[in-house]
Amino acid sequence: MKLSLLSLVTFITAAVADLDPIVIKVDPFRGSKFFYSSNDTQFYLRGVAYQYSNTEDPLADATACERDVPLMKELRTNVIRTYYINPDADHTKCMQLLSDAGIYLISDLSSPNVSINRADPEWQVSLYSRYTAVIDELQQYNNTIGFFAGNEISNTVATTDASAYVKASVRDMKSYIKQKGYRSMGVGYATADVSNIRVNLANYLDCESDDQAIDFWGYNIYSWCGNSTYQESGYKARTEEFRNYTAPVFFAEYGCNEVTPREFTEVKALYGDTMAEVWSGGIVYMYFQESNDYGLVSVIDSTSVSKMKDFTSYSDQIASANPTGTNKASYTPTNTALQQCPTVATSSWLAKATPLPPTPDSNLCGCIYDESACVPADDLKEAKYGTLLGVVCGYTDCSGLNSNATTGKYGAYSMCGVKDQLAFALNKYYTEQDKAATACSFSGSATTKATTSATGTCSSQIKEAGTAGTGTVTTESTATAGSDSSSSSSTSSSFAVPASVHSSVSVGSLQVAAYVATALLAGIGMIAL
Ligand SMILES: *[C@@H]1O[C@H](CO)[C@@H](O)[C@H](O)[C@H]1NC(C)=O
Ligand SMILES: *[C@@H]1O[C@H](CO)[C@@H](O)[C@H](O)[C@H]1NC(C)=O
Ligand SMILES: *[C@@H]1O[C@H](CO)[C@@H](O)[C@H](O)[C@H]1NC(C)=O
Ligand SMILES: *[C@@H]1O[C@H](CO)[C@@H](O)[C@H](O)[C@H]1NC(C)=O
Ligand SMILES: *[C@@H]1O[C@H](CO)[C@@H](O)[C@H](O)[C@H]1NC(C)=O
Ligand SMILES: *[C@@H]1O[C@H](CO)[C@@H](O)[C@H](O)[C@H]1NC(C)=O
Repeated sequence: MKLSLLSLVTFITAAVADLDPIVIKVDPFRGSKFFYSSNDTQFYLRGVAYQYSNTEDPLADATACERDVPLMKELRTNVIRTYYINPDADHTKCMQLLSDAGIYLISDLSSPNVSINRADPEWQVSLYSRYTAVIDELQQYNNTIGFFAGNEISNTVATTDASAYVKASVRDMKSYIKQKGYRSMGVGYATADVSNIRVNLANYLDCESDDQAIDFWGYNIYSWCGNSTYQESGYKARTEEFRNYTAPVFFAEYGCNEVTPREFTEVKALYGDTMAEVWSGGIVYMYFQESNDYGLVSVIDSTSVSKMKDFTSYSDQIASANPTGTNKASYTPTNTALQQCPTVATSSWLAKATPLPPTPDSNLCGCIYDESACVPADDLKEAKYGTLLGVVCGYTDCSGLNSNATTGKYGAYSMCGVKDQLAFALNKYYTEQDKAATACSFSGSATTKATTSATGTCSSQIKEAGTAGTGTVTTESTATAGSDSSSSSSTSSSFAVPASVHSSVSVGSLQVAAYVATALLAGIGMIAL
């Protein structure tokens, strides 16, 4: 067959642009392996963590990508993990360079200042808005495999309640991807390796129902140091633990540096026959040398880096990582049942599996603001919102704003931004005081306003939430939950500020409790805001 030069060029371009998508699931059951969609070959991650600063987007720097992608290719890299990207930046160039090199992406959804805080966890509108913005941006690139909805959030028994918020975020992002009609991309979790919570955590994130279970489990695991062994490193025990897991499992970070230079002898084990039955490879930590001393290269300038010893030893090891795995056509998952949810017990696990925290719904938050006759004053600084909330909640019951994963009690407005929460609390108190003028002042911090009565969906939701805000809202907003900035709620309603903006300040339940305590101590009538 003769191809004209033009069609040949088109053919080549198309082949490059359409990097073979990676798929996870095997219908009708969940499988625990990744496959290339075109030829059913199992996909093993040979990943590298790629991030040089918490606050700089590594995929927005085309010069750096031009410098680094060829080196990652030299390391046979087929996946990178990024921890922070800016959804408003242009990623075309880097994603194209990666795609051309056969490299896929798994990215964390959070940012350093918008993430689930293990000490005072929440799943609310600003997080929802951040997470969906990252998905909206990265879904357009075919080499995006999926996302981490959290990284090392629960790391002690005391912080296991935070996993309920992680799981709610997984549920909502999975549903968002579906509802947007995006191609199938996974939403997983990257965990720290903490011995007394690891089994419960793995079970929790893969239990109850498919629509809220993680699509993959990433282990940040540093237990193989120097010339360790399969047994001694704990890899054997971990492998047995995950043999029946119903989602793919892989190392989301690995590469212990207690013995340096690193020789990466674990690579043989990870990609060897025994582990490759259970694990889908891993992501080595990390590309850049920083003060924590985990780098494969050190940066010289914007166009050059120097290879470290670790680069060479990792390169030698990964060169012979060639697990064959299973062909999708002949793959039948051995275990299709989800795990058993852990039982809540003070000594071991603090998060109920059901109910989970509510889906952040900026429409509902906007409605409750609109309906409120007493709201924070226009000139009250955002930084003071939390303090005022503490004061108001000293006067009125704010259960509608609180959440507790251990009891499974979630106020209907616990997912709102603090301005809307403040409006709810102020208005509740004002109403309870029969709208006495003195009940909406707080030294000028609060002000009365005209109200807009809720109609339609909002009206049903507010009724379901109840006056105390402790009811369960089952009616879904038409424009889905969250803060799609193009949704009518942000642009055309009468909010003082669009929900997606004023929700950026967030105050967790513990913080409110602390404010209330402070307020009570100081004598609540005398608060100077
Ligand atoms: C992604 O894949 C689809 C389907 O193969 C294709 O139409 C689209 O152009 C690809 N997008 C990019 C950015 O390569
Ligand atoms: C399947 O496709 C992938 C990527 O397109 C390729 O790397 C792999 O070698 C293929 N497998 C087989 C058995 O041809
Ligand atoms: C690990 O074992 C290899 C081969 O036996 C040896 O060459 C190397 O020095 C050992 N490394 C360490 C850190 O003990
Ligand atoms: C995995 O499933 C098999 C078959 O159902 C069972 O015999 C085995 O005990 C399970 N292993 C674990 C670690 O749960
Ligand atoms: C949740 O409620 C339980 C029982 O009332 C309480 O002991 C626990 O401290 C609460 N947790 C949080 C995070 O407030
Ligand atoms: C989060 O950090 C980014 C980058 O440092 C900054 O631009 C943004 O305003 C911050 N957002 C919040 C809510 O503090």
